[in-house]
Amino acid sequence: MSVSAVGSFWLSPSPGKLPRPRMVVRSSAVSVAPILTHLQKQCATPLPVLRHVADAMAADMRAGLAVDGGSDLKMILSYVDTFPTGNEKGLFYALDLGGTNFRVLRVQLGGKDERVIATEFEQVTIPQELMFGTSEELFDFIACGLANFAKKEGGKFHLPSGRKREIGFTFSFPVKQTSIDSGILMKWTKGFAVSGTAGRDVVACLNEAMERQGLDMQVSALVNDTVGTLAGARYWDDDVMVAVILGTGTNACYVERTDVIPKLQGQMSSSGRTIISTEWGAFSNGLPLTEFDRDMDAASINPGEQIFEKTISGMYLGEIVRRVLLKMAEAGALFGEYVSEKLSTPFILRTPDICAMQQDNSDHLDAVGAILYDVAGVKSDLSVRKMVVEVCDTIVKRGGRLAGAGIVGILQKMEEDSKDLIFGKRTVVAMDGGLYENYPQYRRYLKEAVTELLGLEMSKNVVIEHSKDGSGIGAALLAASNSKY
Ligand code: BGC
Repeated sequence: MSVSAVGSFWLSPSPGKLPRPRMVVRSSAVSVAPILTHLQKQCATPLPVLRHVADAMAADMRAGLAVDGGSDLKMILSYVDTFPTGNEKGLFYALDLGGTNFRVLRVQLGGKDERVIATEFEQVTIPQELMFGTSEELFDFIACGLANFAKKEGGKFHLPSGRKREIGFTFSFPVKQTSIDSGILMKWTKGFAVSGTAGRDVVACLNEAMERQGLDMQVSALVNDTVGTLAGARYWDDDVMVAVILGTGTNACYVERTDVIPKLQGQMSSSGRTIISTEWGAFSNGLPLTEFDRDMDAASINPGEQIFEKTISGMYLGEIVRRVLLKMAEAGALFGEYVSEKLSTPFILRTPDICAMQQDNSDHLDAVGAILYDVAGVKSDLSVRKMVVEVCDTIVKRGGRLAGAGIVGILQKMEEDSKDLIFGKRTVVAMDGGLYENYPQYRRYLKEAVTELLGLEMSKNVVIEHSKDGSGIGAALLAASNSKY
């Protein structure tokens, strides 16, 4: 990082590029103060706003359980009606596709005494062009990754003859499940726009690609990442009732009673329970949104969709901040006379960048200056850096607090149906995803909102716990408990 380059306040335009005209001549953090004040006002999440979001989340959940299409929340049936018991034994695989990487995991399960004996995994980055390619290209790439992973085993792992290796397939997009091992993709999210998959059974897509590779593997369980996380966390702790992913995208699932799901039309599971994936990323009721959110949504590949996700998840927080800074640069000359081309580039500022800026405790905010220079192509003085950190904090605070309100909405809905079984005892919410894991301020804001909404006493029963990479093990466990043999 070129910290030394930060010092002078002005940045020359890059050669051959015309400077973009600005509307205000004075250049300092002072001139953009009203923009910040207005932003903070619009993004504010005082208790009544949080309460509204929690109540609306609970109401939308009910509407989505009543009938398919009854609300923004799809309330997807997972076909996971029982949890892994701990008796699962043998060799299983998990394949995780949900963002910019896919992961393959091999898990050896040893039953009650030995539990998880060993895990090994490999992660492969999905080339950008495959996110916009065809279904076949994407699934061939994944099957090829699987084949490479399996090849490296040599003859190390033996399965009884005639058996295929079984996979728990974590596919983290909205899927209408038709059974534990099949489901139809409703739409892509998180910037994916692969053609030819929507409306198709994603397990069939994977199976066909595995056949093309000559792989002796089959999918035994298809799960959302939230469902894998819940199953994985529950393996160790019976009090886990909810799982939330806060990463590139976001979603939450929870354990529901089958008798309060009208759209099941009386088809009860033997356990009387099932996991519901809410797909809460599509929630939109009463959110405090700004012009920056609306513009980002309008420019997205799925306008009008996934509004909660666009307000609280990792794919978008950095981009919202960039849009605010661009306005401050154009209308208030925050970074001096010229607006850098980099700052005008969508998604150039990523959530890990704003996170790193918020961790800078140095006197002169040197890391903030370096990131602004390296990533956004702008020079800054201390007052400007402070302003930038304020903007990051405003957007992250709103995101974390709204996520907290969403969690309370789910717990509230469960408590309404099962008095004292949620708030009257220890209830665990298993959390995972890079945003939750790596952004301390976000985590703090989320927890503060939960405590504000529930009050100190009641919130003592709600344990919000990180369940690291639980979704892979969870998917392998579900493949084991739904084994075809
Ligand atoms: C998807 C969900 C997924 C979540 C977290 C969202 O974009 O729609 O299915 O669980 O991201 O990965």
